[in-house]
Order: sequence, then structure tokens, then C-alpha cells
Amino acid sequence: KKRIVSGVQPTGSIHLGNYLGAIKNWVSLQDKYETLFFIVDLHAITLPYDVQQLSKATRDTAALYLACGIDTSKASVFVQSHVRAHVELMWLLSSATPIGWLNRMIQFKEKSRKAGGENVGVALLTYPVLMASDILLYQSDLVPVGEDQKQHLELTRELAERVNHLYGGRKWKKLGGRGGSIFKVPEPLIPPAGARVMSLTDGLSKMSKSAPSDQSRINLLDSKDAIANKIKRCKTDSFPGLEFDNADRPECNNLLSIYQIITNKTKETRYEEIISDTGYLDQVLAEGASKASDIADKTVSNVYQAMGFLRR
Ligand code: TYM
Repeated sequence: KKRIVSGVQPTGSIHLGNYLGAIKNWVSLQDKYETLFFIVDLHAITLPYDVQQLSKATRDTAALYLACGIDTSKASVFVQSHVRAHVELMWLLSSATPIGWLNRMIQFKEKSRKAGGENVGVALLTYPVLMASDILLYQSDLVPVGEDQKQHLELTRELAERVNHLYGGRKWKKLGGRGGSIFKVPEPLIPPAGARVMSLTDGLSKMSKSAPSDQSRINLLDSKDAIANKIKRCKTDSFPGLEFDNADRPECNNLLSIYQIITNKTKETRYEEIISDTGYLDQVLAEGASKASDIADKTVSNVYQAMGFLRR
């Protein structure tokens, strides 16, 4: 079976873009593939965050995964920081990552500009290396993400190839290893529709957890009335009628796209049940972390070996 991994950051509230760009597709993939879905709490500390809220947001995000239809008898669901190998591999990979690759990341440029330039933490720059670890640890075949993660996926692929070239093959064999590639080179899986759900107040920027105005996004936990109000009040234009793909009508295009792909019922009821059963949720996350660690530890120990470290 091919293996699939993906994750969402537990920051702000999960919105329609996250659902249509990522989680909805995970649900359809879990039957056919071996799937691991994590909550990337380590990524959530790359910008200033609320310490009092992190663990709650992590749990809430896990509950939303299940409420959206992730089935834990098929998929492993876990918290990134619960599997130590993520951070460990990140350090090893960062030694093979040219700074230039990180400096040219669009998300880094945008986020660091907004967050105060030279004062942002180093982790914002090295963020994609952690993301590459998330993926390469599991020898993943496919990574279902929205359009905005495409560049990070490209970096992950280049990094996998670079490490395979620098440390894999005959060199690794000489050190007693299996030889061949250390990492599988993963492919992104970006949905044809819904890969980029736009803001309700500006059809040219993407719907985002960090946008200051809550009017700009539909959160998965918004009530029916709140959603109806947001849609009623969202930005439109003064052209007559409706049409797709008119560059002068980005808002219209966005609303039609959303309408086109929404077929599922709302998920609030299931979420409430899941989030209130803390024991159940914690058990799911513990089992997920333990399964994930088994796979991840093998990869890390291969990397240590191929990079010439003394065996423990
Ligand atoms: P994050 O938390 O920003 O977003 C989670 C997922 O939602 C998608 N997405 C969107 N899709 C369509 N329209 C939008 N407006 C929209 N906004 C967000 C994202 O593409 C993503 O798939 N770095 C990642 C998390 C991550 C990850 C990973 C993903 C860390 N490690 C390993 C996959 C594999 C992020 O910040 O996603």
C-alpha cells in the first residue's frame, strides 16, 4: 500500500480552505492508502503564539479531523511533538539544506515581512526543513495539501534527492547500511478544485487562519447563521449574473468554486461529542503516536548510520 501523510497547524480556527484544500481529500484517501495525519504543533510556535492555548488548539484540531470523517481504524492520527523523531531528523536534514533554498520560500518572505523582519525567530526560516522531516520520516509516497504548500513540497523533494545523493548508495553501504536511497521522493497531491479557497473579503488573497478579520473565512465550527451572514456580507461585484474564470471577478469565481465543491453536511454534532470525550481522544492520539514512532525511528536510525554517526 502506498503511504500518505499530511498535517494542519493548530493555530487560529480551521476553515473551509483547510477542509476543501486538505482534510476532505484525506477522508477519501484513507480507504485506499496507509495514512498518517498529524497535528503540527511544532510548526505552530514559529510565530508568536499563546502558550495557554496551544494544547487546547491541538486537541481541537484532532477532534476536527475525526469530525470531518478521519477514521482511526484506518488512519493514524497523532501529534507531531509526540514523535520525537520529527525534531531529530530536522537537525540532521538542516545540515544538508542550503540557506538559499530557505531564503527564497514565498511563505517565509511573506510571514517574516508581516512579523517584523530581522526579529522573527530562526524557526520561521527553518520551518520547511521540519515539514520535510514530517514527510520523509515516513517514506511517504503522496502528500495531499492545498496549493500554498506546493513550494514546500518541492523543497522536500529536492532535499530528499540531495540527501540520497550525498549520503546514500555505495557510501551508505560501506558504512554497513542497506545502500540505495535513504528517502523516498514524495509527490504532492493537490486537488483540482478547492486547492486555493480565497478570502470572502478579498478574492485575491487566500482564506487564512491568521487574517485579522473573521469575516474573511468560514470556520468549520461557525454556526449555520454565522456562515449565512458571512456569505451574505461577503464581497461581490457589480457585474450582471455569475461566471467562472473572469479575472476581473475573483470574488465571484471563489464563491462559485466553493458552492461547486460543497456536498457534505455540517460536522458540528460529531465534533462536540468527540471533543467532550477527552479520554477517547487522548487514547487515539497515543496509539497514533506509537504507530508513527515505529516507522519514524527506523528512518532516523538509517540517516544516523548513513551520515557516519557512532551507533548507540
Ligand atoms: P496549514 O495549517 O496552513 O494548512 C493546512 C492545509 O490546508 C491547506 N490550505 C488551504 N487550501 C485551500 N485554500 C486555502 N485558502 C487554504 N489554506 C490552507 C494547506 O495547503 C494545507 O494543506 N506547513 C503546513 C502544515 C504541514 C504539513 C506537513 C503538511 C507541516 N508539515 C507535512 C503536509 C505534510 C501548513 O502550515 O498548513
